[in-house]
Amino acid sequence: MEKLDELGLKGKLVLDAGTGACGMTEFLEKRGADVVSIDLNKEFMEECRNQLEKANFIRGNLSELQFIKPETFDHVMCKATVSALSENITLFVSSVFREFYRVLKDDGQLTIIDYYPFNEETSPCALDEVQVGIWRLEKAVYELLGESHLEEYPPQMIEDELKSIGFAEVEESIRRDELPWSDELLGEHEELIEEKIEEIEENYLREALTKKLRELMELAKEKKVESGAMFELRAQK
Ligand SMILES: C[S@@+](CC[C@H](N)C(=O)[O-])C[C@H]1O[C@@H](n2cnc3c(N)ncnc32)[C@H](O)[C@@H]1O
Repeated sequence: MEKLDELGLKGKLVLDAGTGACGMTEFLEKRGADVVSIDLNKEFMEECRNQLEKANFIRGNLSELQFIKPETFDHVMCKATVSALSENITLFVSSVFREFYRVLKDDGQLTIIDYYPFNEETSPCALDEVQVGIWRLEKAVYELLGESHLEEYPPQMIEDELKSIGFAEVEESIRRDELPWSDELLGEHEELIEEKIEEIEENYLREALTKKLRELMELAKEKKVESGAMFELRAQK
């Protein structure tokens, strides 16, 4: 994460878009930023409020930030959230980016960090089979429920979208941090996928998916699964 230190976020007002388990919120706070952290997930919000006292955690949808005035933030940080957006039709991604643009100050900056699509041909580094397996399983569960989740966006597609919205400059780089995933993170992830599997009506599907999930998570813990390659886009308003 050292590269993010270049951003000089001390004393800056930062929107952490997609709080998750609040790893990024904590990182930003430690760098002296004032953080507003937004996520749809109620449980995450409650847990994060107990963990970090200073940040302002708000439960909300990133495509509907009307409660925030235009030109509020110096920086918007969006890590591993674009690929996890709850509805992934292009229009939806676009509405999230439009909101980022609106709430950023005139000289504000957006950082998007996310996974390269899990595709051997286009990935800039070797893929971890177990991680890809977990990703595919999670995506399949949502698809069985008729929901869209875990889309794989090539950085070029995001860059084009950002420019079409009005961002002036977009810079791309490859990063590969967060190695390996911690058992705690894997455990939380397993729980979330399991909860989703429970929503599937067919008994045999629930059983087969839970079995596969357990196998993958065992492997992941044994071999210390590594994070896939991530890209970082920095866009200037
Ligand atoms: C992988 S987590 C983010 C991790 C976090 N940014 C970090 O770096 O530690 C993705 C998060 O995006 C949230 N999310 C998905 N769609 C959302 C939306 N439309 N509005 C707000 N949050 C959303 C999910 O609830 C999930 O917590």
